[in-house]
Amino acid sequence: MTTYKFPHNFLWGAATAAYQIEGAWNEDGKGESIWDRFSHTPGKISDQSTGDIACDHYHRYEEDIDLMRRLGLKAYRFSIAWTRILPAGRGRINPKGLDFYDRLIDSLCAANIEPFLTLYHWDLPQALQDEGGWENRNTCHAFADYSALAVKHFGDRVKYWTTFNEPSVVAFDGNLSGEHAPGNQDPRITYQVAHNLMVAHGLGVQAIRSANSKVEAGIVLNLWMADPATDKPEDIAEANAAWDRSETLFLDPIFKGHYPLAAYDLVGENMPKIYDGDLALISQELDYVGINFYSRNLVSASGNIDKVHGSEYTEMGWEVCAPAMRRMLVKINNEYRLPPIYITENGSAFKDEVGADGKVHDPRRLDYLKQHFIQTRLAMQDGVDVRGYMVWSLMDNFEWGHGFTKRFGLIRMDYETQKRTFKDSGDWYAEVIRKNEVSGT
Ligand code: FCB
Repeated sequence: MTTYKFPHNFLWGAATAAYQIEGAWNEDGKGESIWDRFSHTPGKISDQSTGDIACDHYHRYEEDIDLMRRLGLKAYRFSIAWTRILPAGRGRINPKGLDFYDRLIDSLCAANIEPFLTLYHWDLPQALQDEGGWENRNTCHAFADYSALAVKHFGDRVKYWTTFNEPSVVAFDGNLSGEHAPGNQDPRITYQVAHNLMVAHGLGVQAIRSANSKVEAGIVLNLWMADPATDKPEDIAEANAAWDRSETLFLDPIFKGHYPLAAYDLVGENMPKIYDGDLALISQELDYVGINFYSRNLVSASGNIDKVHGSEYTEMGWEVCAPAMRRMLVKINNEYRLPPIYITENGSAFKDEVGADGKVHDPRRLDYLKQHFIQTRLAMQDGVDVRGYMVWSLMDNFEWGHGFTKRFGLIRMDYETQKRTFKDSGDWYAEVIRKNEVSGT
């Protein structure tokens, strides 16, 4: 057993997103978002649920901040719902929406918890979708205006600003597989959306900085390490190609100022419109980059991958492979000139239940987190500059197309009664934070 100490000031936190927890979908002047529309459309969510109420965090945020206190969180990563403060995406401001986030942020500050704010965690105003959504370049300008408004209002208390959460999921799940809102299945739209999200990110960073020069601006990318299924050269080549086709699609424009060559083959005839100056805009220096890591992609040249014998899988069907996290961090650190890194999401869904003793024993989640903390600490010893770690998620919540069927929380939600119950992993995480160390093998 080894004890891994973390640096002083390491920013331990937990993460959520507005649509997944807030509920109050049409209260106090909030406008409709594409996730409201999508979840209200029959057949889109596996358990027919919606985020109309979710964890009712809109009304229970104070109770939730008490839970964060019990965890000893140093930071809380959350997103704001664009439609709460600008119901139609642009134009008329809804003061009650600003009030809600003022109260939330003030209470976090009073609890000594650093707010780590995401501007866009997938819930585009439906009014903007009606004009073409992210396929329409005007949406990028609306995003920049929304960013400026938010930073002017909250920037005195919020230091960390994230433009986008996981642009690849927005582009691909929302517009190619159609499993997410707005549910398009069209490669032509997909790649235009992917590029426009990057443009919006660039405009957003400019808007954030001109609204308040003291805050930090960054973006959150989800990265899956691509590992070859065997050490055969063809599998290794295919794993490298898979990494180039997906992960570099966003890393390269942001950190190298050009799209990867592999993207041109991938996109083919669905080439988006790219204007002069776009890549300079996209590749502005960032103050930090957030990385979300859940699992790896196992790749073989034949395309057939069975489950890995001896590996554990989560309820999402994702393989538990913590060493891949260290390798991924070292790889991006070698291949890009990166700003400081925050792990902005990492966690696992398991079928946990309340035991006869009234407690939630979730040894598999606890072990998952322990392994990933250790591998991240090892990557830091390898020279990767990781400054903080946000566990996904603070509490069980609405897991997009899976509705309430996947539980990622450190805290269990009973959706009938809205009762919150600490899981063992939550108590264990509180100890990790308190001692600023993790012990394991
Ligand atoms: C990430 C999302 C987050 C949550 C986790 C499980 O892709 O950013 O909202 O759904 O996956």
